[in-house]
Formats: sequence, C-alpha cells, structure tokens
Amino acid sequence: MMKPPSPGSYLLLAPLALLLIVFVLPSLNSPRAGPDGLVALCGHRATTDVIVVAAAAAAPPPAEPEQQQQPPEKLSLMVGVLTMPRLRERRDIVRSAYALQAPIPGARVDVRFVFCNVTDPVDAALLALEIQHHGDVLVLNCTENMNDGKTYAYLSSVSRLFASSPYDYVMKTDDDTYVRVPALVDELRGKPRDDVYLGYGYPMGGQPMPFMHGMGYVVSWDVATWVATAGEILERNDTLGPEDLMVGKWLNLGGKGRNRYDLKPRMYDLNWDMDNFRPDTVAVHTLKTNRRWAAALRYFNVTAGLAPSDLYHLPAMGV
Ligand SMILES: *[C@@H]1O[C@H](CO)[C@@H](O)[C@H](O)[C@H]1NC(C)=O
Ligand SMILES: *[C@@H]1O[C@H](CO)[C@@H](O)[C@H](O)[C@H]1NC(C)=O
Ligand SMILES: *[C@@H]1O[C@H](CO)[C@@H](O)[C@H](O)[C@H]1NC(C)=O
Ligand SMILES: *[C@@H]1O[C@H](CO)[C@@H](O)[C@H](O)[C@H]1NC(C)=O
Repeated sequence: MMKPPSPGSYLLLAPLALLLIVFVLPSLNSPRAGPDGLVALCGHRATTDVIVVAAAAAAPPPAEPEQQQQPPEKLSLMVGVLTMPRLRERRDIVRSAYALQAPIPGARVDVRFVFCNVTDPVDAALLALEIQHHGDVLVLNCTENMNDGKTYAYLSSVSRLFASSPYDYVMKTDDDTYVRVPALVDELRGKPRDDVYLGYGYPMGGQPMPFMHGMGYVVSWDVATWVATAGEILERNDTLGPEDLMVGKWLNLGGKGRNRYDLKPRMYDLNWDMDNFRPDTVAVHTLKTNRRWAAALRYFNVTAGLAPSDLYHLPAMGV
C-alpha cells in the first residue's frame, strides 16, 4: 500500500526531488569509462567531472503565491545519510523515521541517502525504484567502503552539487543513527553560520580541539566548500582511513572549523541494554538492528500518533 507524502513534510523535498545520480570524481587519474545505461553525462568542471542522472523523478512544483508571504528561511541543513544498496530495509526504517518528524518553521532540512558507485545491476534497478519514488538519493563516484574516501566524496561534492541553493550547514551521518532534527536545528540556530564543526566531540592525542565522532557531525557550508578545494587533502592521501578522524585532521591542519561544538551527552551510543535514551537527545547511534530501532521509535514516541483502527491490531509495542 502506498501512502502519498504528507504535505507538510520538510523531508520530502519536492523542490529538490529532481535528483539524481551524481558521480563525483575525487581523483582524476585514469581514463574515463563510458557511462552505463543509468548514466547521462552532463558536464565537466575544471577539477572534477559531474554526471547527473535520473532527473525524471519530479519537477519542482509551481510556485504558489502564498509562498511570498511566508517568513524568510532562517536556517538550512542538508543531512546526508551514508548507506549502502543492500541495506534497503534499514533505509526504509530510517527514511520513515525522518519523515515522521515534525516540520520546523523557518528551517529547510533535506535528508538524502548517499551511496558510492552502484555496480550490481539488481541493486541499480532497485535503487532506481527508490529514486523515482523518493527522490532523495545521491550516488557519488567512489568505491563503496566507509573508510575509503566516501566521506571525502560526499563533503567535497555537496558545495558544487547544490551550488544553486546552498545550505547553511551540511551533516554527515550514518544509517544506524537516529537524528532528532528539531533538537539539532535548535542547537544550530544560535550558532555562527560559518567555520562550524559540531558533533559528538572526542579528544585526539595532543590536539587542542576535539574531533567529531562519525555517528553524525555538521560542518558549515564554507567548510564543505573549503574541503572541495583543498588539494592538500588529496596530496596527503588523507581521504583514506577512519573517516571521522580524517575529517578532524583536514580541519585541524587547514585551520578550519574553529567554531567547534561538542554535543555530548546529547549525542551518544545506545548501550547494550538500551536503557540510556534521554529525552533531550540530539542523536542516538548504534541502532544496528530492527530491535534497536523499535526501541528508539518507542522511546521517542515516533508512532504514538497511530490512530486506533479495526484495520490493524498491533501488540503493545514493548521491546
Ligand atoms: C570515477 O572515478 C574513477 C576512479 O577515480 C575514474 O576512473 C572515472 O573516470 C570516474 N568516472 C566518472 C564518470 O567520473
Ligand atoms: C563507477 O562506475 C562507473 C560506471 O560504471 C565507472 O566508470 C567508474 O570508474 C566507477 N568509479 C569507481 C570509483 O569505481
Ligand atoms: C599516496 O598514495 C599513492 C598511491 O598509493 C602513493 O603513490 C603516494 O606516494 C602517496 N602519497 C603520500 C603523500 O603518501
Ligand atoms: C513520550 O510520550 C510520553 C507520554 O506522553 C511522555 O511522558 C514522554 O516524555 C514522551 N517522550 C519523549 C522522548 O518525548
């Protein structure tokens, strides 16, 4: 059964739904391979090649007159959820969990699922289905591997891919993290819009500034733009290795992200017994099983609004 997108949802991104499969090239040292059936070449840039695909999903809706009376947007955030084709069931949970969060007045928040190259034809067929249905997918030209440059491919491409409607902030998170977007946006509202690096901070030997754990971190748009142009990152091979540590290293060596905010303890790992949820959570990580997602959905009352009906009889949702 299909349910139409809820009209108010900031996650369903009508204006941005025209995406896409985008191939972004972190390093250009081998000859270009011909695009396969899913891919259409749109353009070259000086330092990177970009391929934009599958734009058929949705055209932006016509502008409505009322929009002119709405208050100006105060804050915009793109949330990139790094995931993999085979984690389709997980992605379905994560997507629904984001979609059921209340829209935030005065904020534009777009959630996108971020992939590297899709090589398997079955994966490609099913991902095309997801793209056409949800329009919230980014496919980058990288090899699927958490510590092999995917974060670099993501952070270094967003400033170009979304140059026409930039965000104030760009987040990288994972598909085993539940981000409570309103709580995160509240944190961001009072912060500077530039030179920001925010997340779950952890100290690295001798470094004066904390690094942000890979469960989820936010950089401001200028920082993402800097990553895209910082040739030094590639020269040092600093795209390879534990991604969160590498991002901290880039920023420290580049003198970037000096407005640094540690959201511990409001960002945390869920423990084994699943008894450390907190009401002021910004993000909870290690939701690696359906059981752990179920516990989170229950704790945060995500489905509490489900109306009673003769059409379904669900057991009490204890886990
Ligand atoms: C993708 O990256 C590979 C390896 O860096 C490169 O050989 C290829 O030309 C790139 N493809 C596109 C479409 O940009
Ligand atoms: C991604 O796939 C494209 C098309 O199949 C290929 O040209 C490219 O080299 C691949 N890139 C990487 C980094 O594997
Ligand atoms: C980066 O990696 C390449 C390929 O593995 C290697 O040839 C090069 O020397 C490395 N550069 C640095 C600065 O480590
Ligand atoms: C969930 O709902 C219950 C009952 O209304 C409430 O006591 C609790 O604070 C809510 N939990 C969160 C995290 O908002």
